[in-house]
Amino acid sequence: MAKTKVVPARRIRGEYVPPGDKSISHRLAILGSLAHGVTRIHHYCPGEDFRSTLRCLKTLCVPIRVSRDTVEIYGQGLYTYRDTGDVLDAGNSGTTIRLLAGVMAGQPFTSCLTGDDSLRNRPMRRVIYPLSLMGAQVEARKGNYPPLIIRGGPLRPIRYVLPVASAQVKSAILLAGLFARGVTEVVEPVPSRNHTEHLLQAYGARIDVADGVIRVEGGHPLRAFGDYVVPGDISSAAYFIVAAVLLPDSDLVIRNVNLNETRTGILDVIQRMGGRIEVLERRRVRGEWVGDIRVRHSPLRGTRIGRDMIGRVIDELPLVALLGSQAEGVTVVRNARELRVKETDRIAAIVQNCRALGIAIEEKPDGFIVEGPQRIRGGTVQSFGDHRMVMTFSIAGLLSQEGVEIENSEVVGISYPSFFEDLHRLVEPA
Ligand code: S3P
Repeated sequence: MAKTKVVPARRIRGEYVPPGDKSISHRLAILGSLAHGVTRIHHYCPGEDFRSTLRCLKTLCVPIRVSRDTVEIYGQGLYTYRDTGDVLDAGNSGTTIRLLAGVMAGQPFTSCLTGDDSLRNRPMRRVIYPLSLMGAQVEARKGNYPPLIIRGGPLRPIRYVLPVASAQVKSAILLAGLFARGVTEVVEPVPSRNHTEHLLQAYGARIDVADGVIRVEGGHPLRAFGDYVVPGDISSAAYFIVAAVLLPDSDLVIRNVNLNETRTGILDVIQRMGGRIEVLERRRVRGEWVGDIRVRHSPLRGTRIGRDMIGRVIDELPLVALLGSQAEGVTVVRNARELRVKETDRIAAIVQNCRALGIAIEEKPDGFIVEGPQRIRGGTVQSFGDHRMVMTFSIAGLLSQEGVEIENSEVVGISYPSFFEDLHRLVEPA
């Protein structure tokens, strides 16, 4: 088990290119495996989670070729997975198991999906219930946890109002909808990331999105479009963005980052707190906004994150605790109960780690409240097996007086194996 110490920093400067987006990489591989033709995924997400998706697709006998910068998926159509009887192991990846559950619901055979200790304790009823309404038979441990046994088959379309804002649940239903006869409708009360919708469009699916309602018509083949260059992951870039805002005299240019409006909540939060972020250039690539941004140090004031914003900043909320601790006044995050069922209970993990470093923070059932500015003394924190805890508390280390030691830091590889190298390259030590 690795332990990493992050020492105090003076500033962060230069040019930074984030790794490929994880959510988009998963979706390209899965949709590519169902389409006719080759999908070449350039600048794919280097993390373990994406490898888990590829491993599951290989288990289903999808031809896949992986090289250093490109993954090629040779799709042959909606019903070409092979029933090998082998278990589909999603590792740590919630996106892999939930999206694949939607696809396997439509396959004419029985499959078993599982994952690591963390994944086997994450709730699946949220996908089991709508997929059962569509006609799939799904069994789970205690009715809610992996392994999932999915008896797939012909599906019927449903209209489903999402009870929790979740792109994974939305995507599972839309993917199952490809196998249903007729139009499946998903109603989304608050927006969540919409990469599945953009890519379904790019693959020629019959899909329509209007006023928070997504309609997809099943039974039609998907067509591969060849090459796709995955934009940088804003959820990975967020650690560098926050470091640049918080470390005095910082000035960082971030190239080729995904600026999809369902993902840029962290930029809005920082700007609302008074942070200086400029969009230098923006272009649209297959529905996704991609651009370059410049981030400079600026003093911040506290803020309140409203319900409508939560979905757009869900994976960056641990960083908001850190931003709040350095801002003048109170920062409030509520309506974020979902954080309790991520790779770990992120509310408990944030609070425990903040306190271990000398940051006062109040825990709420659905979020946290932090008042700043506070000094960060430093100390030792746990990863809780969660890549986002490793990266968040590395940034705390840069801001600290004595440095921060992170236990089990190797889990950073789930989304971002070269995180520490990139940080080291751009940060000037104090
Ligand atoms: C993701 C959706 C979000 C997010 C996760 C990735 C996706 O989860 O937290 O990291 O790629 O669809 P939920 O759908 O559970 O909110």
